[in-house]
Amino acid sequence: MAKKLAIIYGTGFGNTGLMAKAIEEGARESGLDVLIKKVDEATLADVENADAIAIGLATYKGAGMPSVIKYVESLAKVPLKNKVGTAFGSYGWSGEGPLFITKVLSSYGMSVIDPPLRIKRIPEEEGLEECRKLGRLLAEKLKK
Ligand SMILES: Cc1cc2nc3c(=O)[nH]c(=O)nc-3n(C[C@H](O)[C@H](O)[C@H](O)COP(=O)(O)O)c2cc1C
Repeated sequence: MAKKLAIIYGTGFGNTGLMAKAIEEGARESGLDVLIKKVDEATLADVENADAIAIGLATYKGAGMPSVIKYVESLAKVPLKNKVGTAFGSYGWSGEGPLFITKVLSSYGMSVIDPPLRIKRIPEEEGLEECRKLGRLLAEKLKK
């Protein structure tokens, strides 16, 4: 059975959403089963059933989007040890959001890709290719 990736993200203007869709493309190309959801629709089961999770969030006012931080903090109840995790997000100048989520995922005992993928403002083709590459890397990690 194909391994599963859950991509859960929050985006204000769509930039982090473009990243999420490109990560999905790369992961699907590499044979992963992908669930992609905005954080408001995500449940704990989405992550429980996944082999890898990618959490996306934009940075506003020096921090990641609160809805995404709250969701990731609620994952403390879920057994995540040894699952693969990564964070990503669009930012303007400081980009704290994905850095914070990387720390939280690591604290759950996950195998985390560090540093997270951060792209300034609107991802251009080069940035989208980095996102696809991240999707392929997640698939590689799950083969091991
Ligand atoms: C009110 C406001 C506050 C922001 N604060 C930050 C910030 O503190 N640090 C930063 O890196 N970017 C900041 N940004 C820039 C956004 O992170 C950037 O526009 C990003 O591309 C938004 O991604 P999204 O389209 O996924 O929401 C801010 C943008 C706005 C509109």
